[in-house]
Amino acid sequence: MKIDASRGLRGRLTIPGDKSVSHRAVMIGALAEGTTRVSHFLPSADCLSTIDCMRRMGVAIEHDGESLTVHGVGLHGLTKPDSTLNAGNSGTTTRLLSGILAGQAFDSRITGDASLTSRPMKRIITPLTKMGGSVISENGSGCAPLLISGRPLTGITYRTPVASAQIKSCLLLAGLYADSPTTVIEPALSRDHSERMLKVFGADITSSGTTAVIRPGQTLRGCDIHVPGDISSAAYFLAAGLLVPGSEIRLDHVGTNATRDGILRVIKAMGGDVICLDSRGEEGEPSADLLVRPGRLTGTTIGGSLIPTLIDELPMIAVMAAFADGETVITDAAELKVKETDRLMLITENLTRMGADITATDNGMIIRGGCPLHGAVIETLGDHRMAMAFAVAGLVTGDMTIRDAACVDVSFPGFFEALKSLSL
Ligand code: S3P
Repeated sequence: MKIDASRGLRGRLTIPGDKSVSHRAVMIGALAEGTTRVSHFLPSADCLSTIDCMRRMGVAIEHDGESLTVHGVGLHGLTKPDSTLNAGNSGTTTRLLSGILAGQAFDSRITGDASLTSRPMKRIITPLTKMGGSVISENGSGCAPLLISGRPLTGITYRTPVASAQIKSCLLLAGLYADSPTTVIEPALSRDHSERMLKVFGADITSSGTTAVIRPGQTLRGCDIHVPGDISSAAYFLAAGLLVPGSEIRLDHVGTNATRDGILRVIKAMGGDVICLDSRGEEGEPSADLLVRPGRLTGTTIGGSLIPTLIDELPMIAVMAAFADGETVITDAAELKVKETDRLMLITENLTRMGADITATDNGMIIRGGCPLHGAVIETLGDHRMAMAFAVAGLVTGDMTIRDAACVDVSFPGFFEALKSLSL
């Protein structure tokens, strides 16, 4: 995909539904009794993988674009899939579903694409095993394919080594099948969509600070879920609005859950101007319209408990930092190495190709902004977030080529069309 310099992006955009919330609506809706109707569902490749897996276990799901109806089968209504479950590129599908599969009365096997099968699964294997589960990495690498033998589970108290909503959610979902409460304590609070949604469906779940506790024994009841726009997808348009002169973009109905809004805090710290309009505190998840206009950005420091609230936005933030004045230091972000790609390496390589001054560290990067930047050929290795972050960079520099650009479909089908629709 070739990206030319933009003369400005103007207008109003509805950002596609939140990927994390969409996955959870399908899985939790499937485990509920009765019907769950989901509006503004994200029909991206990752979420379609979750739908496919649930259908293979006997869940009837009607899907028409952004409208989804899940006919829940109840906690004990899933049936043994007749073949391997395919999670595609989706870590969320694999890790959350493994928690559910561990407590079933049948065995299963789950795998995915080349990227997924190189991502670490020990982080769920270890605690699920402590719960009495049997989850085995088939080739002994600690990665998928995973062989899961359904077993009766016992509740545990588990301190996660990293702040990861996928680990936490895996254990909370397994906790639905345990014989006693399951407690997950995180080093920093990760996104809390599972806790919120499980509560809405009637689960006995409480959270306080970085601790979440689920008690088994409640029946989940199907309900209506409206998925807010994905702030991780909004991030590309926030950055474009800030970086491309002449822009003014209004993004409708973006999720502003405090465990996800680190990008807004970083933009503010960098001196950027994003106005929150029309905040809504909908059942389960808060949202707002966001208005962004260009502004001069300065470097900042990003680390600690802020990291889990913006982990998926770091490719875009690194690009913004390269266009900003002064130095940006990112720490505590070693998790970047085990995302869809090694994003620490790939961000560093691609920004270097553009002429930026960037040094990768053990757990983050140092970006000295203000260097003259130019277009380049960007290697994405099929990583959707790399493609979108550097497409935005290309709107500023021009002459940018994004390899493997179709990978944006993983989280944002129609991304390039959306950019075009706002272009002057
Ligand atoms: C997600 C959690 C995060 C995030 C991913 C989606 C989720 O991963 O990076 O895109 O939906 O729970 P980790 O839990 O591995 O940090």
